[in-house]
Amino acid sequence: MRQHFCRLAPFTLQLYHILANSWRCEVYFLQISITVKTKSALPERDAVRRGLHDGKMAKKIILGISGGISAYKSVYIASGLKKKGYDVHVIMTDGAAKFVTPLTFETMSGNKVVTDVFDPANETPTEHITLGQSADLVLIAPATGNTIAKLANGIADNMLTTTMLACTCPVLISPAMNTAMFENPATQANLETLRERGFVIIEPAEGMLACGVEGKGKMPEPDVLIGYVEQWASKEKDMAGLKVLVTAGPTQEAIDPVRYITNHSSGKMGYAIARMAARRGAEVTLVSGRTALPKEPFVETVDVLSAQDMFDAVTSRAPEMDIIIKAAAVADYRPAEVATEKIKKSDAASGRSIELEPTQDILGYLGEHRREGQFLCGFAMETQNLLENAAKKLVKKNVNMICANSLKTKGAGFAGDTNVITVLTREGMKQLPLMSKLEAADAILDEIMASR
Ligand code: CTP
Repeated sequence: MRQHFCRLAPFTLQLYHILANSWRCEVYFLQISITVKTKSALPERDAVRRGLHDGKMAKKIILGISGGISAYKSVYIASGLKKKGYDVHVIMTDGAAKFVTPLTFETMSGNKVVTDVFDPANETPTEHITLGQSADLVLIAPATGNTIAKLANGIADNMLTTTMLACTCPVLISPAMNTAMFENPATQANLETLRERGFVIIEPAEGMLACGVEGKGKMPEPDVLIGYVEQWASKEKDMAGLKVLVTAGPTQEAIDPVRYITNHSSGKMGYAIARMAARRGAEVTLVSGRTALPKEPFVETVDVLSAQDMFDAVTSRAPEMDIIIKAAAVADYRPAEVATEKIKKSDAASGRSIELEPTQDILGYLGEHRREGQFLCGFAMETQNLLENAAKKLVKKNVNMICANSLKTKGAGFAGDTNVITVLTREGMKQLPLMSKLEAADAILDEIMASR
C-alpha cells in the first residue's frame, strides 16, 4: 500500500492570512506549487518496514504450539514465516508433540524446537528466559483452553508457559478448540484477563470442527495468522521513547440524567492512530470518548464522556507528551444547565429548547500552552471548503499539523474503515489517497515523524 502513496509531496502551501477587520472575516489564499519528488530511498525504507529485516537481523518470532489438532496447520505458519525472512523459534507442549513431531517444525523453521525447560540439549540452561526476552513477537497457535488458562493464571509448568512468563514482547494468541470449550465461561474469563493484560486475542473462525461440531473455534488459516505476525512484527520502532497522547471518539454532553448531545464519531481513526503509534514503539495514552471499539492492546486508555472530562484528562497529561494527536470529535457546545431530573414531555418550558454554552477548545488550549518541542496535530472534519477551513485551524489553534477530511468525500468519514486525508503543515500540504484507517494512521505518523 505504502508504495502507492501519492509521491507528489511536498506541495508548498503558503497562507496569506488577511484579516478584514471591519467584517471580522478571515480570508485565506492558498498558493500551491507542486514539486514532483522521485522515489529516491523510499523502497529501501519500505523493505525495512515490511519487517524482512530490521537492517541488521531478522525479527525473532516464537511460535508456541499447544496440543490441538490444528497444530498441523502451524507447520505452514512456521514455513510461511521462515520464507518471509523471520527467525522462527518453535516451542511445543507435550500435547502438541503428540499431534506433530518436533522434527517437522525443526525442519520447517530451521531452528531447534524446544519442548522441555530441563532438556540438557537446550542452548542455554535458562533457555526460557533467553528465548522469551530476545523475541520480537510471540504467536501461540493453536492455543488450547488449557494453555490459555495457564497463561491467565501465571502457571509455568512447561517450556511454553514458562517462557511466556519471562517474555516482554507483544503476544498474539489464537485460541482453537471445540465451540463449547471456547464459549465456556472459564475460557472466556481467561481470555478477558489476557486481553486486559495486553495480549492480542485472535478470534477463532467458524466452521466444521475436528470433533464434528459446526461452530466457532477453528484456528484461522495459516495465511491469516501470518498476516497478524506481519502486522505486529513488521514495524520499525521509530517512535520508541516518545510519549504520544491520542484522543478519539465523540463526547457526550448531558441534557438530563437520560439524554445527551453527541455526534457520529466512531473513534476508529483515533484508535487506529493509537494502535500504529504503539506498534512503532511509542508509549501511547488514548483519551477516548464512548465508542463501541474494543480496548487497544499496548495502549493506556483513559475513558471520558464529556468535553470537560476530555479537557481535564488531556491537559493534565499534556506537559509530559512529545506528540498529541487530537482525532476526537469534541462537542463545541453543551447545555448551559444539566437538569437533575428527567425532563418531562409535559414540562414545556424546559423541554422545548435547550440553552447552550461553549465548551473549551482543548486543541486551542494546547496550542496556547504548548511546551518547547511538543508536536500538536489536530483534525478537521468538514463538509465544505475543506482546505480553507483546515488551514484556518492550523493557524488559529497554533498547531503543527492538521489532518483534513471531508464528510462528502467517498470513503472518508466517521463510521467506515477507510479515510481520505489531506495533511496540512505550515510548510506544505500532502494529499493521501483512499486507504484503510490503519494505513492512514501510519501515513499520518510518517508525516509527523518527518516534520518534527
Ligand atoms: N477540538 C478540541 N476541542 C473542542 C473542539 C475541537 O480540541 N472543543 C479539536 C478537535 O479534536 C480537532 C480540531 O479541534 O482536532 C478541530 O475540530 P473541529 O470540530 O473540526 O473544529 P472546531 O474547532 O470545533 O471548529 P468548527 O466546528 O467550527 O469547524
